[in-house]
Amino acid sequence: MSKIVLGVSGSISAYRACDLARDLMRAGHTVRVCLTDSAAKFVTPVLFETLTGNACLTDTFVEPTRGRMAHIDWAREADLILIAPATANTLNKIAQGIGDDMLTTLVLAAQVPLLIAPAMNPAMYTHPETQASIHKLQSQGAFFIEPTEGDVASGETGQGKLAPNADIIAITESVLSRRLTLNGKTILITSGPTQEPIDSVRFLTNRSSGKMGLAMARAAQLMGAKVILITGPTSLPDPANATTIHVRTAEQMLAAAQEQAPKANWIIGLAAVSDYRPANPSPTKIRRSEADLTLTLTPNPDIIATLAKENPTKRVIAFAAEPTQDTEFATEKMHRKGVSAIALNDISNSQIGFQSDENELTLILANGETHQSGRKSKLGCALWLLDQLSENP
Ligand code: C5P
Repeated sequence: MSKIVLGVSGSISAYRACDLARDLMRAGHTVRVCLTDSAAKFVTPVLFETLTGNACLTDTFVEPTRGRMAHIDWAREADLILIAPATANTLNKIAQGIGDDMLTTLVLAAQVPLLIAPAMNPAMYTHPETQASIHKLQSQGAFFIEPTEGDVASGETGQGKLAPNADIIAITESVLSRRLTLNGKTILITSGPTQEPIDSVRFLTNRSSGKMGLAMARAAQLMGAKVILITGPTSLPDPANATTIHVRTAEQMLAAAQEQAPKANWIIGLAAVSDYRPANPSPTKIRRSEADLTLTLTPNPDIIATLAKENPTKRVIAFAAEPTQDTEFATEKMHRKGVSAIALNDISNSQIGFQSDENELTLILANGETHQSGRKSKLGCALWLLDQLSENP
Protein backbone atom coordinates (compact mmCIF):
# COMPACT_ATOMS: atom_id res chain seq x y z
CA MET A 1 0.00 0.00 0.00
CA SER A 2 1.07 3.60 -0.50
CA LYS A 3 2.51 6.42 1.59
CA ILE A 4 0.43 9.55 1.28
CA VAL A 5 1.30 13.02 2.52
CA LEU A 6 -2.00 14.75 3.23
CA GLY A 7 -1.54 18.52 3.09
CA VAL A 8 -4.30 20.48 4.81
CA SER A 9 -4.62 24.23 4.35
CA GLY A 10 -6.81 26.72 6.15
CA SER A 11 -10.27 26.30 4.67
CA ILE A 12 -13.32 25.81 6.87
CA SER A 13 -13.57 22.36 5.29
CA ALA A 14 -10.25 21.41 7.00
CA TYR A 15 -12.36 19.34 9.42
CA ARG A 16 -13.22 17.02 6.50
CA ALA A 17 -9.53 16.09 6.25
CA CYS A 18 -9.89 14.15 9.54
CA ASP A 19 -12.31 11.67 7.96
CA LEU A 20 -10.27 11.69 4.78
CA ALA A 21 -7.12 10.68 6.68
CA ARG A 22 -9.01 7.83 8.36
CA ASP A 23 -10.61 6.66 5.08
CA LEU A 24 -7.21 6.61 3.36
CA MET A 25 -5.85 4.56 6.27
CA ARG A 26 -8.82 2.19 6.06
CA ALA A 27 -7.94 1.69 2.40
CA GLY A 28 -4.54 0.47 3.62
CA HIS A 29 -2.41 3.57 3.08
CA THR A 30 0.03 5.20 5.48
CA VAL A 31 -0.92 8.83 6.01
CA ARG A 32 1.30 11.66 7.21
CA VAL A 33 -0.35 15.04 7.64
CA CYS A 34 1.17 18.45 7.05
CA LEU A 35 -0.87 21.48 8.20
CA THR A 36 -0.46 25.12 7.25
CA ASP A 37 -0.58 27.63 10.11
CA SER A 38 -4.11 28.64 9.15
CA ALA A 39 -5.26 25.01 9.01
CA ALA A 40 -3.87 24.52 12.52
CA LYS A 41 -6.29 27.21 13.70
CA PHE A 42 -9.22 25.02 12.52
CA VAL A 43 -7.87 21.55 13.36
CA THR A 44 -4.94 20.72 15.62
CA PRO A 45 -1.78 18.71 14.87
CA VAL A 46 -2.55 16.56 17.93
CA LEU A 47 -5.85 15.52 16.36
CA PHE A 48 -4.12 14.29 13.20
CA GLU A 49 -1.28 12.68 15.16
CA THR A 50 -3.82 10.71 17.17
CA LEU A 51 -5.83 9.78 14.07
CA THR A 52 -2.86 8.71 11.94
CA GLY A 53 -0.35 7.54 14.54
CA ASN A 54 2.28 9.67 12.76
CA ALA A 55 3.90 13.01 13.60
CA CYS A 56 2.17 15.99 12.01
CA LEU A 57 4.22 18.76 10.39
CA THR A 58 3.32 22.43 10.71
CA ASP A 59 6.32 24.58 11.58
CA THR A 60 9.22 24.43 9.11
CA PHE A 61 11.68 24.83 11.98
CA VAL A 62 10.22 22.22 14.29
CA GLU A 63 11.50 18.87 13.04
CA PRO A 64 9.82 15.74 14.46
CA THR A 65 13.22 13.96 14.33
CA ARG A 66 16.22 16.06 15.41
CA GLY A 67 18.88 16.39 12.76
CA ARG A 68 16.53 15.32 9.93
CA MET A 69 14.82 17.62 7.45
CA ALA A 70 11.27 16.35 7.41
CA HIS A 71 10.18 18.30 4.35
CA ILE A 72 12.89 16.56 2.31
CA ASP A 73 12.42 13.11 3.90
CA TRP A 74 8.63 13.19 3.55
CA ALA A 75 8.81 14.46 -0.01
CA ARG A 76 11.23 11.63 -0.94
CA GLU A 77 9.39 8.84 0.85
CA ALA A 78 5.85 9.69 -0.28
CA ASP A 79 4.10 8.04 -3.23
CA LEU A 80 1.67 10.94 -3.54
CA ILE A 81 0.98 14.36 -2.08
CA LEU A 82 -2.70 15.09 -1.66
CA ILE A 83 -3.72 18.61 -0.66
CA ALA A 84 -7.28 18.60 0.63
CA PRO A 85 -8.56 21.17 1.19
CA ALA A 86 -6.35 23.50 -0.86
CA THR A 87 -7.04 27.20 -0.27
CA ALA A 88 -6.60 29.87 -2.94
CA ASN A 89 -3.53 31.09 -1.04
CA THR A 90 -1.79 27.69 -0.90
CA LEU A 91 -2.77 26.86 -4.50
CA ASN A 92 -1.51 30.17 -5.86
CA LYS A 93 1.72 29.95 -3.85
CA ILE A 94 2.45 26.45 -5.17
CA ALA A 95 1.86 27.63 -8.74
CA GLN A 96 4.41 30.43 -8.17
CA GLY A 97 6.99 28.07 -6.67
CA ILE A 98 6.84 29.77 -3.28
CA GLY A 99 7.96 27.73 -0.29
CA ASP A 100 7.24 29.88 2.75
CA ASP A 101 5.76 27.25 5.04
CA MET A 102 6.18 23.53 5.64
CA LEU A 103 3.52 22.43 3.15
CA THR A 104 4.61 24.57 0.20
CA THR A 105 8.28 23.75 0.92
CA LEU A 106 7.46 20.05 0.95
CA VAL A 107 5.64 20.35 -2.40
CA LEU A 108 8.64 22.18 -3.90
CA ALA A 109 10.98 19.39 -2.76
CA ALA A 110 8.74 16.57 -4.03
CA GLN A 111 8.90 14.77 -7.36
CA VAL A 112 5.87 12.56 -6.79
CA PRO A 113 2.32 13.03 -8.18
CA LEU A 114 0.50 16.02 -6.75
CA LEU A 115 -3.27 15.85 -6.31
CA ILE A 116 -5.09 19.02 -5.29
CA ALA A 117 -8.67 19.35 -4.05
CA PRO A 118 -9.43 23.10 -3.86
CA ALA A 119 -12.00 24.52 -1.45
CA MET A 120 -12.67 28.22 -1.28
CA ASN A 121 -15.22 30.97 -1.79
CA PRO A 122 -16.65 30.78 -5.36
CA ALA A 123 -15.29 34.27 -6.20
CA MET A 124 -11.80 33.14 -5.18
CA TYR A 125 -12.14 29.95 -7.23
CA THR A 126 -13.22 31.74 -10.40
CA HIS A 127 -10.65 34.54 -9.89
CA PRO A 128 -8.40 34.68 -12.98
CA GLU A 129 -5.25 34.25 -10.82
CA THR A 130 -6.59 31.06 -9.24
CA GLN A 131 -7.73 29.68 -12.60
CA ALA A 132 -4.34 30.56 -14.12
CA SER A 133 -2.60 28.72 -11.24
CA ILE A 134 -4.77 25.65 -11.82
CA HIS A 135 -3.95 25.61 -15.53
CA LYS A 136 -0.25 26.14 -14.85
CA LEU A 137 -0.11 23.28 -12.32
CA GLN A 138 -2.16 21.03 -14.61
CA SER A 139 0.29 21.67 -17.42
CA GLN A 140 3.06 20.62 -15.01
CA GLY A 141 1.22 17.33 -14.38
CA ALA A 142 -0.72 18.07 -11.18
CA PHE A 143 -4.13 16.44 -10.87
CA PHE A 144 -7.16 18.39 -9.66
CA ILE A 145 -10.36 17.33 -7.98
CA GLU A 146 -12.75 20.13 -8.84
CA PRO A 147 -14.80 21.65 -6.04
CA THR A 148 -18.54 21.09 -6.25
CA GLU A 149 -21.30 23.67 -6.47
CA GLY A 150 -23.50 24.46 -3.51
CA ASP A 151 -23.87 26.77 -0.54
CA VAL A 152 -20.48 27.67 0.91
CA ALA A 153 -19.74 28.80 4.49
CA SER A 154 -20.08 32.50 3.60
CA GLY A 155 -23.73 31.88 2.72
CA GLU A 156 -23.11 32.31 -1.00
CA THR A 157 -23.82 29.67 -3.62
CA GLY A 158 -21.37 28.65 -6.29
CA GLN A 159 -18.47 26.36 -7.12
CA GLY A 160 -16.12 26.10 -4.18
CA LYS A 161 -17.11 23.25 -1.87
CA LEU A 162 -14.49 20.58 -1.22
CA ALA A 163 -15.34 17.57 -3.42
CA PRO A 164 -16.96 14.62 -1.61
CA ASN A 165 -14.43 12.49 0.30
CA ALA A 166 -15.51 9.42 -1.73
CA ASP A 167 -14.46 11.20 -4.94
CA ILE A 168 -11.17 12.33 -3.41
CA ILE A 169 -10.45 8.71 -2.40
CA ALA A 170 -11.44 7.32 -5.84
CA ILE A 171 -9.16 9.79 -7.64
CA THR A 172 -6.33 9.17 -5.17
CA GLU A 173 -6.53 5.44 -5.88
CA SER A 174 -6.63 6.12 -9.60
CA VAL A 175 -3.58 8.38 -9.53
CA LEU A 176 -1.69 5.95 -7.27
CA SER A 177 -2.30 3.04 -9.60
CA ARG A 178 -1.41 5.25 -12.59
CA ARG A 179 -4.26 3.81 -14.63
CA LEU A 180 -3.39 5.77 -17.74
CA THR A 181 -4.85 2.98 -19.84
CA LEU A 182 -6.84 5.39 -22.02
CA ASN A 183 -3.81 7.45 -23.03
CA GLY A 184 -4.14 8.48 -26.69
CA LYS A 185 -7.87 7.66 -26.85
CA THR A 186 -10.71 10.11 -27.43
CA ILE A 187 -13.97 9.30 -25.67
CA LEU A 188 -17.26 10.80 -26.77
CA ILE A 189 -19.88 10.91 -24.01
CA THR A 190 -23.54 11.86 -24.34
CA SER A 191 -24.95 13.03 -21.02
CA GLY A 192 -27.85 14.66 -19.18
CA PRO A 193 -31.51 14.92 -20.12
CA THR A 194 -32.94 16.29 -23.35
CA GLN A 195 -35.65 18.95 -23.49
CA GLU A 196 -38.28 18.51 -26.18
CA PRO A 197 -40.29 21.71 -26.76
CA ILE A 198 -44.07 21.64 -26.41
CA ASP A 199 -44.36 25.36 -27.08
CA SER A 200 -42.13 28.41 -26.72
CA VAL A 201 -41.85 28.04 -22.91
CA ARG A 202 -42.67 24.40 -22.08
CA PHE A 203 -40.87 21.17 -22.72
CA LEU A 204 -40.80 17.41 -22.01
CA THR A 205 -37.82 16.24 -20.00
CA ASN A 206 -36.78 13.80 -17.26
CA ARG A 207 -34.95 13.68 -13.92
CA SER A 208 -31.43 13.07 -15.26
CA SER A 209 -28.93 15.38 -13.52
CA GLY A 210 -25.98 14.67 -15.83
CA LYS A 211 -23.84 13.73 -12.78
CA MET A 212 -22.95 10.28 -14.12
CA GLY A 213 -21.90 11.75 -17.49
CA LEU A 214 -19.73 14.38 -15.82
CA ALA A 215 -18.18 11.68 -13.61
CA MET A 216 -17.48 9.60 -16.72
CA ALA A 217 -15.81 12.58 -18.39
CA ARG A 218 -13.57 13.16 -15.36
CA ALA A 219 -12.76 9.46 -15.00
CA ALA A 220 -11.79 9.19 -18.69
CA GLN A 221 -9.54 12.25 -18.34
CA LEU A 222 -7.91 10.81 -15.22
CA MET A 223 -7.14 7.67 -17.20
CA GLY A 224 -5.44 9.72 -19.89
CA ALA A 225 -8.21 10.14 -22.50
CA LYS A 226 -9.33 13.23 -24.35
CA VAL A 227 -13.02 13.85 -23.77
CA ILE A 228 -15.82 15.23 -25.91
CA LEU A 229 -18.91 15.72 -23.74
CA ILE A 230 -22.24 16.35 -25.47
CA THR A 231 -24.68 17.33 -22.78
CA GLY A 232 -28.32 18.27 -22.49
CA PRO A 233 -29.26 21.07 -20.06
CA THR A 234 -27.90 20.49 -16.52
CA SER A 235 -26.84 22.70 -13.64
CA LEU A 236 -23.34 21.20 -13.55
CA PRO A 237 -20.09 22.94 -14.48
CA ASP A 238 -18.29 21.86 -17.66
CA PRO A 239 -15.35 19.53 -17.01
CA ALA A 240 -11.99 21.34 -17.26
CA ASN A 241 -9.87 20.58 -20.33
CA ALA A 242 -12.64 18.77 -22.24
CA THR A 243 -14.58 19.79 -25.33
CA THR A 244 -18.12 20.34 -24.07
CA ILE A 245 -21.01 20.81 -26.49
CA HIS A 246 -24.35 21.96 -25.09
CA VAL A 247 -27.53 20.79 -26.80
CA ARG A 248 -31.18 20.81 -25.91
CA THR A 249 -33.13 18.27 -27.95
CA ALA A 250 -32.45 14.67 -28.96
CA GLU A 251 -32.18 15.70 -32.60
CA GLN A 252 -29.54 18.31 -31.72
CA MET A 253 -27.69 15.72 -29.61
CA LEU A 254 -27.67 13.23 -32.48
CA ALA A 255 -26.42 15.85 -34.96
CA ALA A 256 -23.61 16.93 -32.58
CA ALA A 257 -22.65 13.31 -31.86
CA GLN A 258 -22.57 12.41 -35.57
CA GLU A 259 -20.31 15.40 -36.22
CA GLN A 260 -17.92 14.49 -33.38
CA ALA A 261 -17.97 10.68 -33.76
CA PRO A 262 -15.17 10.53 -36.39
CA LYS A 263 -12.75 11.96 -33.76
CA ALA A 264 -13.69 9.36 -31.11
CA ASN A 265 -12.35 5.88 -30.35
CA TRP A 266 -15.07 5.04 -27.84
CA ILE A 267 -18.61 6.38 -27.61
CA ILE A 268 -20.51 6.13 -24.32
CA GLY A 269 -24.25 6.86 -24.31
CA LEU A 270 -25.15 8.16 -20.88
CA ALA A 271 -27.75 10.69 -21.92
CA ALA A 272 -31.30 10.12 -20.74
CA VAL A 273 -32.73 10.90 -24.15
CA SER A 274 -36.45 11.56 -24.37
CA ASP A 275 -37.92 8.67 -26.34
CA TYR A 276 -40.61 10.94 -27.81
CA ARG A 277 -40.99 14.59 -28.73
CA PRO A 278 -44.09 16.68 -29.42
CA ALA A 279 -44.79 16.28 -33.14
CA ASN A 280 -45.85 19.89 -33.69
CA PRO A 281 -44.38 22.20 -31.06
CA SER A 282 -46.17 25.52 -30.96
CA PRO A 283 -43.92 28.51 -31.80
CA THR A 284 -45.85 30.59 -29.25
CA LYS A 285 -47.08 29.87 -25.72
CA ILE A 286 -50.17 27.65 -25.76
CA ARG A 287 -52.99 29.52 -24.03
CA ARG A 288 -55.03 27.99 -21.23
CA SER A 289 -58.54 26.88 -22.12
CA GLU A 290 -61.18 24.64 -20.56
CA ALA A 291 -60.98 22.12 -23.41
CA ASP A 292 -58.77 19.00 -23.31
CA LEU A 293 -55.42 19.42 -24.98
CA THR A 294 -53.92 16.48 -26.85
CA LEU A 295 -50.22 16.36 -27.53
CA THR A 296 -49.16 14.11 -30.37
CA LEU A 297 -45.74 12.61 -29.70
CA THR A 298 -43.41 11.27 -32.32
CA PRO A 299 -40.46 8.93 -31.59
CA ASN A 300 -37.00 10.45 -31.28
CA PRO A 301 -34.04 8.85 -33.02
CA ASP A 302 -32.11 6.30 -30.93
CA ILE A 303 -28.80 8.17 -30.74
CA ILE A 304 -26.58 5.39 -29.45
CA ALA A 305 -28.06 2.79 -31.84
CA THR A 306 -27.55 5.18 -34.77
CA LEU A 307 -23.94 5.85 -33.73
CA ALA A 308 -23.25 2.11 -33.29
CA LYS A 309 -24.62 1.43 -36.78
CA GLU A 310 -22.68 4.27 -38.40
CA ASN A 311 -19.41 3.44 -36.58
CA PRO A 312 -19.03 -0.35 -36.69
CA THR A 313 -15.29 -0.24 -35.91
CA LYS A 314 -15.63 1.91 -32.80
CA ARG A 315 -16.39 0.74 -29.28
CA VAL A 316 -19.92 1.92 -28.46
CA ILE A 317 -21.29 1.49 -24.94
CA ALA A 318 -24.86 2.14 -23.82
CA PHE A 319 -26.44 2.54 -20.41
CA ALA A 320 -29.69 0.95 -19.35
CA ALA A 321 -31.69 2.53 -16.55
CA GLU A 322 -34.02 -0.33 -15.58
CA PRO A 323 -36.47 -0.75 -12.70
CA THR A 324 -34.84 -4.12 -11.90
CA GLN A 325 -31.41 -5.75 -11.65
CA ASP A 326 -32.59 -8.33 -14.20
CA THR A 327 -29.91 -8.54 -16.86
CA GLU A 328 -32.21 -10.16 -19.45
CA PHE A 329 -33.80 -6.91 -20.68
CA ALA A 330 -30.47 -5.10 -20.68
CA THR A 331 -28.83 -7.90 -22.68
CA GLU A 332 -31.66 -7.76 -25.21
CA LYS A 333 -31.25 -3.97 -25.38
CA MET A 334 -27.50 -4.34 -25.99
CA HIS A 335 -28.18 -6.61 -29.00
CA ARG A 336 -31.03 -4.46 -30.31
CA LYS A 337 -28.91 -1.30 -30.21
CA GLY A 338 -25.89 -3.04 -31.71
CA VAL A 339 -23.54 -1.82 -28.95
CA SER A 340 -20.57 -3.78 -27.61
CA ALA A 341 -21.44 -3.43 -23.92
CA ILE A 342 -24.22 -2.10 -21.74
CA ALA A 343 -24.08 -0.82 -18.16
CA LEU A 344 -27.25 -1.47 -16.19
CA ASN A 345 -28.32 0.60 -13.21
CA ASP A 346 -31.37 -0.22 -11.16
CA ILE A 347 -33.47 2.95 -10.93
CA SER A 348 -35.98 1.40 -8.49
CA ASN A 349 -33.47 2.04 -5.68
CA SER A 350 -33.97 5.74 -4.86
CA GLN A 351 -30.67 5.87 -2.91
CA ILE A 352 -28.68 5.55 -6.13
CA GLY A 353 -28.93 6.60 -9.78
CA PHE A 354 -30.93 9.67 -10.86
CA GLN A 355 -29.69 12.87 -9.18
CA SER A 356 -27.89 11.00 -6.40
CA ASP A 357 -24.12 11.05 -5.93
CA GLU A 358 -23.85 7.26 -5.87
CA ASN A 359 -24.56 4.47 -8.28
CA GLU A 360 -24.23 0.71 -8.67
CA LEU A 361 -23.63 -0.80 -12.10
CA THR A 362 -23.84 -4.20 -13.72
CA LEU A 363 -21.72 -4.29 -16.85
CA ILE A 364 -22.83 -6.74 -19.53
CA LEU A 365 -20.30 -7.51 -22.25
CA ALA A 366 -21.06 -8.78 -25.74
CA ASN A 367 -19.60 -12.22 -24.79
CA GLY A 368 -22.28 -12.55 -22.09
CA GLU A 369 -19.96 -11.92 -19.13
CA THR A 370 -21.40 -9.73 -16.37
CA HIS A 371 -19.44 -7.69 -13.80
CA GLN A 372 -20.77 -5.90 -10.70
CA SER A 373 -19.37 -2.59 -9.48
CA GLY A 374 -20.88 -2.61 -5.99
CA ARG A 375 -22.15 0.70 -4.60
CA LYS A 376 -19.73 3.55 -5.20
CA SER A 377 -19.61 7.29 -5.81
CA LYS A 378 -20.49 8.06 -9.45
CA LEU A 379 -16.85 8.86 -10.08
CA GLY A 380 -15.86 5.55 -8.51
CA CYS A 381 -18.39 3.76 -10.75
CA ALA A 382 -17.06 5.55 -13.83
CA LEU A 383 -13.43 4.62 -13.03
CA TRP A 384 -14.52 1.04 -12.37
CA LEU A 385 -16.42 0.87 -15.68
CA LEU A 386 -13.55 2.26 -17.74
CA ASP A 387 -11.16 -0.17 -15.99
CA GLN A 388 -13.45 -3.09 -16.87
CA LEU A 389 -13.72 -1.96 -20.49
CA SER A 390 -9.93 -1.53 -20.73
CA GLU A 391 -9.36 -5.00 -19.28
CA ASN A 392 -11.93 -6.61 -21.61
CA PRO A 393 -11.10 -5.25 -25.07
O1 C5P B 1 -33.72 2.50 -24.92
P1 C5P B 1 -33.24 3.07 -23.64
O2 C5P B 1 -33.58 4.52 -23.49
O3 C5P B 1 -33.60 2.31 -22.42
O4 C5P B 1 -31.64 2.93 -23.78
C1 C5P B 1 -30.76 3.61 -22.94
C2 C5P B 1 -29.45 3.82 -23.67
O5 C5P B 1 -29.69 4.29 -25.00
C3 C5P B 1 -28.60 4.91 -23.05
O6 C5P B 1 -27.24 4.62 -23.35
C4 C5P B 1 -29.08 6.16 -23.76
O7 C5P B 1 -28.10 7.19 -23.72
C5 C5P B 1 -29.31 5.65 -25.15
N1 C5P B 1 -30.39 6.30 -25.88
C6 C5P B 1 -30.09 7.06 -26.99
N2 C5P B 1 -31.10 7.62 -27.72
C7 C5P B 1 -32.40 7.43 -27.38
C8 C5P B 1 -32.72 6.67 -26.27
C9 C5P B 1 -31.71 6.11 -25.52
O8 C5P B 1 -28.91 7.24 -27.28
N3 C5P B 1 -33.34 8.01 -28.10
